[in-house]
Amino acid sequence: MHPVVEREQLSPNVVRLVVEAPRIARVRKPGQFVIVRKGPGAERIPLTIADIDPQAGTITLMIQAIGASTTELCALQVGETIQDVAGPLGQATELIEHGHAVCVGGGVGTAVILPIARELARRGIRVTSVIGGRSREWVILEDELRTAGDVVACTDDGSYGRPGFVTEALKDLLDAGGVDAVYAVGPVPMMKAVSSLTLPYGVATTVSLNAIMVDGTGMCGGCRVTIGGETKYACVDGPEFDGHQVNFGELADRLTTYRPFEQQALDKLGACATTEVKA
Ligand code: NAD
Ligand code: FES
Repeated sequence: MHPVVEREQLSPNVVRLVVEAPRIARVRKPGQFVIVRKGPGAERIPLTIADIDPQAGTITLMIQAIGASTTELCALQVGETIQDVAGPLGQATELIEHGHAVCVGGGVGTAVILPIARELARRGIRVTSVIGGRSREWVILEDELRTAGDVVACTDDGSYGRPGFVTEALKDLLDAGGVDAVYAVGPVPMMKAVSSLTLPYGVATTVSLNAIMVDGTGMCGGCRVTIGGETKYACVDGPEFDGHQVNFGELADRLTTYRPFEQQALDKLGACATTEVKA
């Protein structure tokens, strides 16, 4: 059992949970993730390890409530437990050795960017983070990212920071020159747009693919993606890949496969919550 020791609401549907997992906290590297199961029979949910505290034996998870299972995880309070936390899984991020890295985070993808930006900064790399949200309350982790370097915050509706998508701010940085690598995590259309943008500039671009995962060990095939025409498994070969080689259209199609079932589960959860309130 893994008790929740801290909880913070970061945006209307994103929650930060600090969870006891001492062994994982000792060995995890930036870019790696865990698969969690809240209780018996619960769905297995892959989550990036956003931070660790090896002394305290804790890991930090940032969870966006989008389906029934993530909504239940986001509802966890301090003192409640997650039954299973398996990991660390996946490959560590390949970090540049010198130069200027731009870390681009879209929405909750910013949580995945944070450990990458911190580790780059720790190694002496210049880091600029470009983070975006629909409006002010959806921009997360700005203060934390400032400890790694400059931050450009963007909002789609212009309610905070620079108006527009993260790609517009990124283009200005690319035009200014001197960018050696881009790390981008967020919705698939954002990662696709970032990869298309950086291609003509010849800037290496790493994206983190949120493929559907089941076992997380390369056996079920659920997370298969096509990279440079070859099949790869996001759970063991990734989750990070060269953005210029990713078949984003296929990934987007595969992510919609279970949408009707996800909606049914969410409707059922809503019905349960209504019943509990009535009782
Ligand atoms: P969102 O849809 O609100 O978008 C966040 C930001 O991304 C926007 O503010 C904008 O700046 C940028 N963006 C969005 N679409 C774009 C486009 N077409 N072109 C350029 N920029 C664009 O984000 P959200 O609601 O927080 O959703 C987060 C998504 O990220 C979910 O779909 C989730 O599954 C995914 N996600 C991915 C990972 C991963 O590892 N890749 C991790 C967590 C979440
Ligand atoms: Fe099953 Fe990757 S999650 S192969």
